[in-house]
Amino acid sequence: MSLLEEIQSLKQSALAELTAAADLAALEAAKGAWIGPHGRFTALMKQLGKMSREERPAAGKAINDAKVELEAALSARREALELQASLPKEPTDFTLPGRRHALGKLHPLTQVTDDIVRSFRKIGFAVADGPEIEDDYHCFDALNTPADHPARDMQDTFYVGPQPATGGGMLLRTHTSSVQIRVMEKQPPPVRIIVPGRVFRRDNADATHNPTFHQVEGLYVDKGVTVGDLKGTVEFVFRELMGPDTQIRFRPHYFSYTEPSFEIDFSNTLVKKLGKDWLEIAGCGMVHPAVFETVGYDPEVWTGWAFGFGIERIAMIRYGINDIRLFYENDVRFLRQF
Ligand code: DAH
Repeated sequence: MSLLEEIQSLKQSALAELTAAADLAALEAAKGAWIGPHGRFTALMKQLGKMSREERPAAGKAINDAKVELEAALSARREALELQASLPKEPTDFTLPGRRHALGKLHPLTQVTDDIVRSFRKIGFAVADGPEIEDDYHCFDALNTPADHPARDMQDTFYVGPQPATGGGMLLRTHTSSVQIRVMEKQPPPVRIIVPGRVFRRDNADATHNPTFHQVEGLYVDKGVTVGDLKGTVEFVFRELMGPDTQIRFRPHYFSYTEPSFEIDFSNTLVKKLGKDWLEIAGCGMVHPAVFETVGYDPEVWTGWAFGFGIERIAMIRYGINDIRLFYENDVRFLRQF
């Protein structure tokens, strides 16, 4: 056999062994046997020196070509074996049921808020928003609540930073009523908005109080607006929220930004179940002319009403929850029920 023939035949055997290697260990062994430092192919290269000048170039080329071919076969086989090793040993059963993600739910307060917004949207109210860290002008002064009014007492309010005697202090808003002012400052009448949002008071937490809670504010300004419109609107929304047997009652009250002012009581079978005839649910009234003057609306031309109610209160009655703190504990066993 000529040297060239010998190279070819060795190459064929090496290729056969490399491509047949059943796993990575067998492949490494084949590599060692043929093209490793002590492999048979390597030994062949060492013989080049002994060859005649005429033979050497052709043999050198044949050996080099064969080496390139063997290296390629080696890495192709290695890639295939590595891929095989990374696949699962057991075949995949595509008929097995998948792993489901647990579906979350909206928080009960969010559900009630969404329902309130939906009802008001039906009758043409838009949703407005304002800052939770508010200045005392928008929270109090502009709402006809002067500096000596009890609602501004330190007891009721979280101030943020200094509280200058001349006003201009910042605080966590104690009610969503501040957004009435912000909206009226920005747009001319008519206005028809509701403002769902978070409010803050220095209350100690107990079954019916929490220092953070939620309100919905409403404001309607147009020409010739009456208390009748207010009562009809409140009645419509509460019947949607709490069932068609819901009754509404207005009691005279005092708020500095409305005149006349009322508290709203409501009654239905849920209230009766709690052993009560009426539950107080909201404050409201006809917007005070001083408030209109503050925002530059002419009180001789424009009339309006406003209300504010607590969302937790409604959710508690609706779902029969007896402790407000349950809303904030984020216990999924509680939240899953609604
Ligand atoms: N801001 C009042 C509160 O937090 C609720 C309220 C009463 C809002 C009368 C109003 C209103 O807009 O007219 O208790």
